[in-house]
Amino acid sequence: MTSPLIAPSLLAADFARLAEEIARVEKGGADLLHLDIMDGHLVPNISFGLPVIEAVRKTTQLELDTHLMLQNPAPFIAQFKEAGSDSLTIHVEIDPDPAAILADIRRHGLKCGLAVNPATPVEALFPYLDHLDLALVMSVEPGFGGQAFQSQALTKIRDLAAEIARRGLSLPIEVDGGVNTDNAADCREAGAQLLVAGSAVFRAADPADAIAAIRG
Ligand code: DX5
Ligand code: ZN
Repeated sequence: MTSPLIAPSLLAADFARLAEEIARVEKGGADLLHLDIMDGHLVPNISFGLPVIEAVRKTTQLELDTHLMLQNPAPFIAQFKEAGSDSLTIHVEIDPDPAAILADIRRHGLKCGLAVNPATPVEALFPYLDHLDLALVMSVEPGFGGQAFQSQALTKIRDLAAEIARRGLSLPIEVDGGVNTDNAADCREAGAQLLVAGSAVFRAADPADAIAAIRG
């Protein structure tokens, strides 16, 4: 099992001290920075948007792993690229067929990802696997940080990893929501190579220790 990549979720950071918070996790060994963008439609919450991504981009070299919890992401792809996102992950639950939006994300030179909610069967991702740079399994209902990890996500990660292997793809699986030192090993063993952790990193006394422990 290769060592996973750790993506702290900025949602759990102190927004009054963003630059410092980002520097702390970057020095602490974070591999990417996870940015949760919410529109109040696909999920019952609103977080932050393009101006914040632009500001974040100026403070860090970390890859900006952008999780779009947007019902209608299509019109904004170019703006996310301009703001500094490196990858855009949309949800399989959105109304328009994600295939065209995924293709557009790639056309803009960004990595594209597809996320699946706890209530959606993981098989919903299967038709798109050939056209993805990452597949994201949600281990909480999206919309809020600080929720408890739902262990059914592990079965979905295993099933997805099996399908990816069966098709000879080399697509990383990302897991997002409630990831901490108690469940990170289970996530890695199930087949996740990219672990998002918000509260477990930013609310830790020492984010570097937390990142190392989650990495295993
Ligand atoms: C939930 C977000 C997650 C969340 C992770 O809607 O997609 O990225 O911020 O935070 P924790 O690790 O606190 O669950
Ligand atoms: Zn997220």
